[in-house]
Amino acid sequence: MKYDTENANVMKRKKIVAGNWKMNLNYAEAMALTDAIAGRMNENQETEVIVSPPFLFLHEVASQLKDKAMISVAAQNCSDKNSGAFTGEVSPPMIASIGVDYVIIGHSERRKYFYEDNLLLAEKVKGALRNSLLPVYCCGETLEQRNSGKHVNVVKQQIEEGLFHLDKMQMEECVIAYEPVWAIGTGVNATPQQAQEMHAMIRKLISGKYGEKTAESISILYGGSVTPANAEELFNCKDVDGGLVGGASLKADDFLRIIDAMEKVLSRE
Ligand code: 13P
Repeated sequence: MKYDTENANVMKRKKIVAGNWKMNLNYAEAMALTDAIAGRMNENQETEVIVSPPFLFLHEVASQLKDKAMISVAAQNCSDKNSGAFTGEVSPPMIASIGVDYVIIGHSERRKYFYEDNLLLAEKVKGALRNSLLPVYCCGETLEQRNSGKHVNVVKQQIEEGLFHLDKMQMEECVIAYEPVWAIGTGVNATPQQAQEMHAMIRKLISGKYGEKTAESISILYGGSVTPANAEELFNCKDVDGGLVGGASLKADDFLRIIDAMEKVLSRE
């Protein structure tokens, strides 16, 4: 359900549990995982589920999930260009043409290993939106940046440079994922307090630029060692609207338990 900014008091922002499969699973495993998740989606569920397979399997996973309610598919990356001589790249119009709804942009692994900076990511965000793909824009500081007290400014800059070229309507199409680099794949998650503090800062920043209604409409996900054991307390935080899950999204049981944790939080609201 699209958030209605005119009725901000009556409509809730989307709660999302997204699985980022990264460069894992072979074809058979990817399809088995898709089946296992799709088969256990609950028709009454309020949580929007997103799965993000590698490019090679994207078309088939998207086809498989086409008629399923409350589950969508995301690409893990896209080119900043629409077409042309860019060997190995995949463009937003290509991704949109196979029925994919979302694209993850600016994951810290793209920033670190492929040297993607905020300005390039701003172009990718623009390209995605031009093609009706909803960006899941990632931000997050390294351990060194946190330890030296720079984490807030780093994340602020990532948001400002990557997203603040958008107009209000475009901004409302975006999902943000805060993923502290030190929590990714380490088994050490941010505490609920650390996550809440950063999410509140991000929402305040958006409010300052686009107004409170826009800020209140945007889903901000937490990512970094989310597991069935810690999901509920993270999702309980006021400004944490779900999770972007890596390792635990590769096992259907774990991923489904994380979705259940969000459903439990929602049932109390
Ligand atoms: P982990 O859940 O494996 O820490 O990965 C988080 C992540 O990077 C999701 O995009």
